[in-house]
Amino acid sequence: MKKNMRLLLITSILFGLIFFLSQCFNANEVSTDARGIVFANPASCRKCHQAIYDSVMLTAHYNATTPTSQNTVHGNFNEGQNSYVYDSSTKVVMQKRDSGLYQALYLNGKEMEAHRFDITFGVRNAQTWLYWKGNNTYELPVSYYTSANAWGTSPGFPIAQPYFKRIVGKVCFECHSSFIDSKHSDETSNSKEYFAAAERIEAMDKTTLIYGIDCQRCHGPAANHVNYHTIYPEEKKAKYIVTNSSLNAQQKLDMCAVCHSGNDQEKLKSRFYFKPGDTLSNFYLYMPGDKYKTNFDVHGNQQRLLAESKCFLQSGTLNCSSCHNPHTNAGSNLATYSQKCMGCHTEANKNFCIVKPAAGVSIKDNCIDCHMPKKPSEAISFYQQGNTQLSFYLLRTHKIGIYKTDSVSKPKITSKKVNKGN
Ligand code: HEC
Ligand code: HEC
Ligand code: HEC
Ligand code: HEC
Ligand code: HEC
Ligand code: HEC
Ligand code: HEC
Repeated sequence: MKKNMRLLLITSILFGLIFFLSQCFNANEVSTDARGIVFANPASCRKCHQAIYDSVMLTAHYNATTPTSQNTVHGNFNEGQNSYVYDSSTKVVMQKRDSGLYQALYLNGKEMEAHRFDITFGVRNAQTWLYWKGNNTYELPVSYYTSANAWGTSPGFPIAQPYFKRIVGKVCFECHSSFIDSKHSDETSNSKEYFAAAERIEAMDKTTLIYGIDCQRCHGPAANHVNYHTIYPEEKKAKYIVTNSSLNAQQKLDMCAVCHSGNDQEKLKSRFYFKPGDTLSNFYLYMPGDKYKTNFDVHGNQQRLLAESKCFLQSGTLNCSSCHNPHTNAGSNLATYSQKCMGCHTEANKNFCIVKPAAGVSIKDNCIDCHMPKKPSEAISFYQQGNTQLSFYLLRTHKIGIYKTDSVSKPKITSKKVNKGN
């Protein structure tokens, strides 16, 4: 008898516990997020983090990819300004039609093909567009460049004739969106050829695309966090979420480096599966010689450039958040950034700038143009209408250092002759 009573007690405690736990984690209806049930509904964060949420909505990160609409495309659709002319018989015309915005190819005045701007990439320096065909996305031949305020050939595209067949695989989405599923999603093969082939034929599932870089792309899955805090609103300590204070210096850097350390390393796993706290180096296959690489392009490689500077190497504390707030756009006020420099470099510390400024000029408002000058990106080059020289756009180098020339008065776009054809 006694034994049965004990069994009954234990079973009822167990059932009670199960009931209690299931309440904890199922307070909300099950998430329908394409990344799986461990991810909360992305909009749910606003309830408790309203200020951050409203600020993030306006960032370049959140808008890194958007479904194309007339208000988000910066290029000009007015007659006379809406074409890219390749030669006297060939042009691509940007058109507004009832079913959306299109790039249409004309040969001797006759329309040959037209494809819709379906997905917009970019907001700040450049925009490029993809169109869907079956389960793949293709990049349109004409892009928009902010600093030139003009249409130009998409990066790496030929100047001789328009090309509509460039398949853009999941890899672009891995840095520019929060998720898209595909048939060959998580290849762990080490073979370069295999991986390249897999990327070419991967079939993407457009219903799973989560546009832009959202909270959980940086912070990791948060369904349990949301459910727990919904049930226990009095709890003020963050639960079931990777906290910033639990991350070491490398992990904090990796949270940004997953997308800001270039695309030249052999990948072992999709970047979509990176969560804060993971070791980013496990996502790559390092080749002999990787360690000795230098001369990183200024585009998309901020982390590896920063890592080469003495400020980073010798302070041991510098990371992206030292200068950037991840929930707002990067400011353009160079005096504010210079204050960050002077957090470490002061006359009192005897490590201040030794340059004698010109009479009447204060160097304190702008450490940036001299020590983080803008440099042309070789990775993003394009042709402007009527210019047979490639143009490059300028980005800040994050290799903080001493440069011979300052770039204060340089133009925003440079052109130079290059020999490589397309
Ligand atoms: C029901 C309320 C609630 C919701 C909904 C919620 N959070 Fe939180 N969150 C909290 C509380 C409470 C804290 C702890 C106090 C603080 O840091 O604001 C917290 C803290 C955090 C932190 C800080 C961790 C650290 O470094 O200390 C992050 C990141 C976070 N939440 C992300 C999210 C994300 C992403 C979502 C949406 C998927 C979300 N939260 C939705 C209540 C909520
Ligand atoms: C680009 C990556 C990124 C995105 C996107 C992002 N965060 Fe953060 N968040 C961070 C980092 C990095 C920190 C730590 C900041 C620091 O070092 O001070 C942080 C800190 C926080 C904190 C704790 C500190 C604070 O400021 O209160 C909360 C809460 C938070 N994030 C919530 C959110 C929510 C909610 C969203 C979406 C609306 C979001 N984050 C989007 C990177 C991001
Ligand atoms: C999922 C990939 C991804 C992650 C993670 C990420 N970024 Fe970015 N970041 C991008 C992309 C893509 C852009 C370009 C967005 C655009 O302009 O279309 C960008 C743009 C930026 C910009 C310039 C635009 C602006 O004004 O904000 C800054 C600064 C930046 N990121 C800093 C960070 C920092 C700091 C972190 C870590 C806390 C981080 N990023 C994490 C992909 C990422
Ligand atoms: C490894 C991550 C990564 C991959 C892969 C990647 N990008 Fe980017 N991209 C970035 C980052 C980071 C930025 C912004 C910072 C910069 O330019 O240095 C950016 C900037 C851009 C911009 C300019 C955005 C702006 O507002 O200025 C466009 C357009 C763009 N990328 C398109 C693409 C396309 C198309 C692909 C695929 C062919 C691609 N990217 C692949 C990380 C990536
Ligand atoms: C976290 C502290 C810290 C911050 C912030 C910082 N630095 Fe440094 N910086 C250092 C340290 C440490 C060194 C190496 C020792 C030295 O020269 O004082 C250094 C070195 C330098 C050097 C000499 C580089 C060389 O190659 O000889 C320059 C120039 C410099 N910093 C400029 C800047 C500028 C400009 C900023 C802001 C954009 C900045 N630093 C932000 C810590 C910092
Ligand atoms: C010492 C300060 C400092 C640190 C640390 C820093 N940045 Fe920046 N970042 C800047 C400045 C200054 C700019 C240029 C702002 C401007 O010109 O309007 C900038 C611009 C950017 C841009 C926009 C691209 C461009 O050229 O305008 C991106 C992307 C970016 N930073 C990413 C990062 C990432 C990722 C990290 C960490 C690996 C990082 N930054 C660390 C100071 C810093
Ligand atoms: C007009 C361009 C210019 C501006 C503005 C400027 N610097 Fe410099 N800085 C230089 C040059 C050039 C050197 C190298 C001088 C030399 O070696 O003779 C230098 C040297 C340095 C050094 C190395 C000092 C040493 O003892 O070797 C540091 C640190 C530094 N600058 C920090 C800063 C900071 C912080 C600011 C902003 C408050 C700043 N600089 C503003 C051009 C500039």
